[in-house]
Amino acid sequence: MNILQINSSARSHGSHSSQLATALVERIRATLPAGARASVTVRDLGRTPHPELNEAALQALFTPAGQRTPEQAARVALDDALIAELQAADVVVLGVPMYNFGVPAALKNWIDAISRAKVTFQYTDKGAEGLLKGKKVYVALTRGGQYRNTPADTQVPYLKTVLGFLGMSDVQFVYAEGLALGADAEQAAIASAQAQIEEAFA
Ligand SMILES: Cc1cc2nc3c(=O)[nH]c(=O)nc-3n(C[C@H](O)[C@H](O)[C@H](O)COP(=O)(O)O)c2cc1C
Repeated sequence: MNILQINSSARSHGSHSSQLATALVERIRATLPAGARASVTVRDLGRTPHPELNEAALQALFTPAGQRTPEQAARVALDDALIAELQAADVVVLGVPMYNFGVPAALKNWIDAISRAKVTFQYTDKGAEGLLKGKKVYVALTRGGQYRNTPADTQVPYLKTVLGFLGMSDVQFVYAEGLALGADAEQAAIASAQAQIEEAFA
């Protein structure tokens, strides 16, 4: 089994979302039958940010492969590497903090990189079709406040939409909310998230 863990916190130390993503990966590994092997790839978008989709990147992507400059080929290769990692994954685990009511820009840059027409989705005469099928996705969400099931939670509908568009419609969310509401609330939020992880594998 190939597991891909994507961390998107800007923090390299003490990130709750990265820690919960790691806990999910450990729990997934624990469900494997004895003797089964899991390969885990961790991509930390905070430590190794992926470049944004700017004009130069768009030009590189829309230039036919054989006509790209070395710089354009190198830029497209960065996106290719993320796509290959994802295509190879059976299970994807995302660690996602809430930043200003959305997903971190680092995660958006990853989403921009993996969303490529004719590779990870395509348009057919029946509409759009995601090409990243058969994957299970877990998302560990961390928030300073409490927004689950409210209109202010733009993360869940956005992630469901974009992952579903790419073919990944089996998505399970784990929430750690109220992390900025004091030490007790922080502890309770982590305990609740850990309980949600246990429930997910019960
Ligand atoms: C730049 C920034 C923006 C944030 N915006 C929000 C927000 O809009 N809503 C919220 O509930 N928490 C917000 N928080 C709090 C984080 O979601 C919370 O601290 C979370 O634990 C961060 O994830 P991490 O522990 O993985 O780094 C923000 C934190 C930072 C640093």
